[in-house]
Amino acid sequence: MSKPAFSTLASHLGRRVDETIATVNLPVYRASTVLFDSLAAASRAGHGASAGVGARHASSYGTAGTATTFALMDALAELEGAGAACRAALMPSGLAAISTALLAFLKPGDHLLMSDSVYGPTRMFVLGMLKRLGVETTFFAPAAPVAEVAALIRPATRVLYLESPGSYTFEVQDVPALAALASARGIVSMLDNAWASPVFARPFEWGVDVSLLPLTKYWSGHSDVLMGAAVVREEHWSTLWRAVRELGICVGGDDAFLILRGLRTVEVRMHRHQETALEVAGWLGECPEVRRVLHPALPSHPGHALWRRDFSGSSGLFSFELDPALFVAASPPKGAEIDPARVARVLAALCEGRRYFKIGYSWGGYESLIMPASIGSLRSAAPWTGGPLVRLHCGLEDPADLIADLEDGLAALTAALAD
Ligand SMILES: Cc1ncc(COP(=O)(O)O)c(C=O)c1O
Repeated sequence: MSKPAFSTLASHLGRRVDETIATVNLPVYRASTVLFDSLAAASRAGHGASAGVGARHASSYGTAGTATTFALMDALAELEGAGAACRAALMPSGLAAISTALLAFLKPGDHLLMSDSVYGPTRMFVLGMLKRLGVETTFFAPAAPVAEVAALIRPATRVLYLESPGSYTFEVQDVPALAALASARGIVSMLDNAWASPVFARPFEWGVDVSLLPLTKYWSGHSDVLMGAAVVREEHWSTLWRAVRELGICVGGDDAFLILRGLRTVEVRMHRHQETALEVAGWLGECPEVRRVLHPALPSHPGHALWRRDFSGSSGLFSFELDPALFVAASPPKGAEIDPARVARVLAALCEGRRYFKIGYSWGGYESLIMPASIGSLRSAAPWTGGPLVRLHCGLEDPADLIADLEDGLAALTAALAD
């Protein structure tokens, strides 16, 4: 046999070591092509990974998964399922998990019931692509009694979509009762379970069928990776997997590795986020500029009793409402109206130049963030009528430093009001 050329050797060497080393962490598999010893093995793997089948750990090609992504899928299914038989699929962002799950379970002519305080881009997706595909959505007030939601169900209703607590306004929903309602009417219930993470929420014990996880947030914990997951009860797996395979949705091994790494410390981090946020929220509640703190773990919150019943803790994310009286123009044209220019100026003074609370979207990392909420166009069933809202994410910094930072912010706000 002739000696292989350099180019042939360069293509084939260094792809295998006979001894495997028992490292703590799984190696990162990066793959498009997967190799087989026989055509029969390739065909078996192809069937197992195909749309509608999704056999555990079956891969014929990188889009179906590798050992790294399978390890994460298994861990998510078990942690989020918490005893229920579940499967998890990975998507390149939390929003992709939401849109893929909705596409999987809805078809033209179907009706979707959705909570009014869902994550803004979720609303955009249903009012954009789903509407173009012939799916009609009805929004309901997030804290509406179950009977009110039941009255909105139509023969064509296929999915009930919840997010609890809601984005920016933090309404807590009676998820067990709503999931039971959906189940009794043959409707699939979905929950965006971003806020509490797996540590403080048990969606499958509450009866939901699909839990949507922006892994970008607490599961990652370090603001350096985007990923999402849809976790479903076993009986819904083939419906979800069909959409995943038909859309070609997948994630890379490096990103899956980062989420697996975040998972190791998520519980410790969550307790720290919780303690810090409660301290900051308690302090803000005493500030004269603040009318209300929207944090479900505070007894003053309207959803507190439901939160106590269902959740085992709270995260680092909450909002506060500034006193609207601060923003009334000195000489309003008619009546006492909030002056938008004054609001913008004062919010900039509060948020800009903070030492620790940085301006940025997203949350769930180790760093603190501050962001005014522009939810005017993001509510239809329950419009926001209060004063300007500001959302905080309390990171892993010391609470006293964070409070001092906000104290400076409120001082800057007061100075801007006097201008
Ligand atoms: C409640 C909620 N759900 C879903 C998402 C989407 O996650 P991702 O940023 O990974 O797309 C976000 C992002 O901010 C969110 O706040």
